[in-house]
Amino acid sequence: MQDSHAWSGRFSEPVSELVKKYTASVDFDKRLAEFDIEGSLAHAAMLNKAGVLSDDDLAAIRRGMAEIIDEIRAGAFAWSVDLEDVHMNVERRLTDKIGDAGKRLHTGRSRNDQVATDIRLWLRAQIDLIVGLIGELQQSLLELAEQHADTVMPGFTHLQVAQPVTFGHHMLAYVEMLSRDAERMSDCRKRVNRLPLGAAALAGTTFPINRHYTAELLGFDDVCHNSLDAVSDRDFAIEFTAAASLVMVHLSRLSEELILWMSPRVGFIDIADRFCTGSSIMPQKKNPDVPELVRGKSGRVVGHLIALVTLMKAQPLAYNKDNQEDKEPLFDTADTLIDTLRIYADMMRGVTVKPAAMRAAVLQGFATATDLADYLVKKGLPFRDSHEVVALAVRFAEGRQVDLADLSLAELQQFSPLIAEDIYQVLTPEGSLAQRDHVGGTAPKQVRAQIARHKARLG
Ligand code: ARG
Repeated sequence: MQDSHAWSGRFSEPVSELVKKYTASVDFDKRLAEFDIEGSLAHAAMLNKAGVLSDDDLAAIRRGMAEIIDEIRAGAFAWSVDLEDVHMNVERRLTDKIGDAGKRLHTGRSRNDQVATDIRLWLRAQIDLIVGLIGELQQSLLELAEQHADTVMPGFTHLQVAQPVTFGHHMLAYVEMLSRDAERMSDCRKRVNRLPLGAAALAGTTFPINRHYTAELLGFDDVCHNSLDAVSDRDFAIEFTAAASLVMVHLSRLSEELILWMSPRVGFIDIADRFCTGSSIMPQKKNPDVPELVRGKSGRVVGHLIALVTLMKAQPLAYNKDNQEDKEPLFDTADTLIDTLRIYADMMRGVTVKPAAMRAAVLQGFATATDLADYLVKKGLPFRDSHEVVALAVRFAEGRQVDLADLSLAELQQFSPLIAEDIYQVLTPEGSLAQRDHVGGTAPKQVRAQIARHKARLG
């Protein structure tokens, strides 16, 4: 007795139930169905133009596929694990509907070039969505930066108070990271957007196909120029996952900061209740669950990157079934990133900044010590000497538990006679900020210029 597989003629017994389940991908690749159909319709149109498929067959395929799309969208399509994957499920349904025309669709094609095409079509759509969502998150960060272009906060190195910056400047650092993330996505899209179809199983096909025509119908920029490469490499998926990992890593860093800033010990910000949860036991708690989960999920996406690189590593050319394992990590990467970007854009609009706490922290950390050193250099002292002078002044102020700006002129002058009355403009956080007035600096004027630049860029 023969089973119902497309290759049943070659086999003397059906696969075991366990093997069937183990090798099937339909449970997860069915989400490629509409892209699979899009690819099939382009392939059929190309075969027709090449004189390989009749007008009647093409019309029947189009009609059948339209019905199948309706069934899938209505949730009425009966997916069968016996048919292994999305490709064979759709093809079988088509053949049930239109007979021989359905069986002719697979002419000059293989599931190997078919699946590679489907993933590329799917991924291209995800990338376009992701680039748009990165832009939306940037808009939301820019709103916050604009509200706080003058808000003083401590800038940290080694998590120790270093120099004053503005909160707007801090937000703009993430806007920059996200700009590069969007660039990376767009760059990756170029290599995703090439057509594998026509490679067939691995060596190309004996039919007079026109791959450029199929590419044009599907909106691909080019064809893959080597059939073995076309069906077997998933570098574009690895590249996407690497780019996605970097977005997640950037958001994980921001999450870490939000969590820290929201700790009552720091108290720089609050996050709207709708992004937080309470504790089942401690009534006073308000936990920053969303940023914590983003930080956690970044590990998951980086894990997918490692999975995909490792999947590729030892595969000989050309297609191997290993590649079926590309889908779940890839799908989950895109899903996780898309959800994260959406929630983040919304969450940043729910951040309340507490300028008084930020300013108080700046005043506690001798954040303007470098400004005093720079001041002395401008008065002629070599920087290394000036550094030494200021270190002594800081020790003195620390002993009295006051900030440098709280020392009297006479007290300051014990460390250097070069210090004059004008030092007090330099020692305030605002004075410190205003002097960092060059491209990329934290002066509020520069922060506003960067906001304007990003806004013009994002449109
Ligand atoms: N489900 C398969 C995959 O995801 C489709 C390609 C199968 N090709 C093959 N020769 N078995 O890779």
